[in-house]
Amino acid sequence: MIKVKNLKRIYHKGIVEVHALKGVSFEVKNGEFLGLMGPSGSGKSTLLHQLGLLDTPTGGEIFIDEINILKLSENEKTLFRLNRLGYVFQEYAILGELTALENVYLPLLMMGKKKKDCINLGMEMFDKVALGERAHHLQRELSGGEQQRVAIARALINKPKILFADEPCANLDTESSRHILELFRKLNEDLGQTILMVSHEEWHKKYADRIIYLKDGLIEKM
Ligand SMILES: Nc1ncnc2c1ncn2[C@@H]1O[C@H](COP(=O)(O)OP(=O)(O)O)[C@@H](O)[C@H]1O
Ligand SMILES: [Mg+2]
Repeated sequence: MIKVKNLKRIYHKGIVEVHALKGVSFEVKNGEFLGLMGPSGSGKSTLLHQLGLLDTPTGGEIFIDEINILKLSENEKTLFRLNRLGYVFQEYAILGELTALENVYLPLLMMGKKKKDCINLGMEMFDKVALGERAHHLQRELSGGEQQRVAIARALINKPKILFADEPCANLDTESSRHILELFRKLNEDLGQTILMVSHEEWHKKYADRIIYLKDGLIEKM
């Protein structure tokens, strides 16, 4: 369960203050697939960054499973991110010199897991994103949609409780986008994966359980 209370984020650009979030409150249940929509500049990415512990809000509170996130030390936040959160961004951020499989298990290798276990878990994730036969390919041999699947498999390798996705289909054509959204839907239904996905495409909203609309740093409707 995620609880957000009166969340604010002010960016300082020289002497200019940008009020990106002006006091946002809502809850997300475990296993919910939440869509975040709204015009460009409405604060969607800013909100995702605060909830994903990638940035520090100016005010308000965030509770994830009763833990007051903003009270954690930097070290505790890093561990929280590694163990409980997964991220998928618009850019796939796949390393070109590694195979798809190596990209996926890299986070585990860095955490000191045995290579054999990394490979097994990596292949398990590949099956989940239906990319098994592409495991040993390099980035340049993969389509945009396939690269985004690799990024999703990598985000899921630590079995995060919550998956954050910021416009994951922004660089994809309609067909590949549909595949990615169906995959999210399947992960949500089969694994009960909690998903928070930012999107600006109206047709994406049918994949989510619920939509929160942001406008000018506030919730317009939910
Ligand atoms: N790092 C930053 N520094 C200054 N202003 C920012 C920064 N990131 C976002 N903003 C501003 O905050 C507002 C919300 O941005 P953002 O959360 O990226 O919106 P969205 O994702 O909905 O397009 C915009 O006015 C944007 O220009
Ligand atoms: Mg954005």
